[in-house]
Amino acid sequence: MQNNTFSTLFVGQNLIKLSAVDSTNNYLKKLASNSEPLPEGTVIMADHQFAGRGMQGNVWLAQAGKSLTFSLLLRPTFVAAERQFELNMLVSVAINNVLSKYVSDHLSIKWPNDVYVDNRKIGGVLIENVIAGSNLKQSIIGIGLNVNQGEFEEELAGRPVSLSQILHQNVNLMVLLSEICAQIEQLYLKLKFGKSTNLRELYVNKLYRLHKVARYSQNGKEFEGVIEGVSEMGLLRIKPMNGEILEFGFKEVAFI
Ligand code: BTN
Repeated sequence: MQNNTFSTLFVGQNLIKLSAVDSTNNYLKKLASNSEPLPEGTVIMADHQFAGRGMQGNVWLAQAGKSLTFSLLLRPTFVAAERQFELNMLVSVAINNVLSKYVSDHLSIKWPNDVYVDNRKIGGVLIENVIAGSNLKQSIIGIGLNVNQGEFEEELAGRPVSLSQILHQNVNLMVLLSEICAQIEQLYLKLKFGKSTNLRELYVNKLYRLHKVARYSQNGKEFEGVIEGVSEMGLLRIKPMNGEILEFGFKEVAFI
């Protein structure tokens, strides 16, 4: 569907709305691998995902029609493979910028790209990149945001919360989607054309637990430390209370 309601150049202009699908990331990946070239910026959104995927093989659950579950196709061929974390930062900052209009100062980014309001998870991002040579060739950016869902299963990790639970009113899903598409496009074009985005600074300043003493675990061993930022490659930098700064890759450290 050609979408003329978003004020973007390309992100979300080709918008495909599905009533139900296993996972919008899966669907977009298949579509992008067909011989017919798919325009960059294509967005697949679904009312209902019956096998939504999260990071680390987790499932992503959302009640049908209540929240945003969508995937965006980018072709960031100008991004070197070793700098692919720039996309994680870009998307996290974009979502944060948009949500800050709704929930102001309680928002943060839990490394690498969970969206948090205080100590509760309101959204998540699953980025699946294809690398060709030394650069990225394709990126499928899957975003799940809890918007108008009124209740969650109790044992879900990250103590989920939705925008409507915080605001006590529903939020228009299409408006929110268009705002996120516009923010991603703005930051993406800046990155592409080499305009200074100070992306890492924007990202780090929003990090959950930045400069706060908290507990972590590595290989089952707990320690107390302070998040100091991320490295250029996106490794999480934590300074243990009595030691030098350590850098952790994804899965190498757990927040307690
Ligand atoms: C996480 O926090 O673990 C990431 C969650 C990502 C969920 C979104 S919903 C749209 C897209 N399709 C999927 O199957 N997953 C992502």
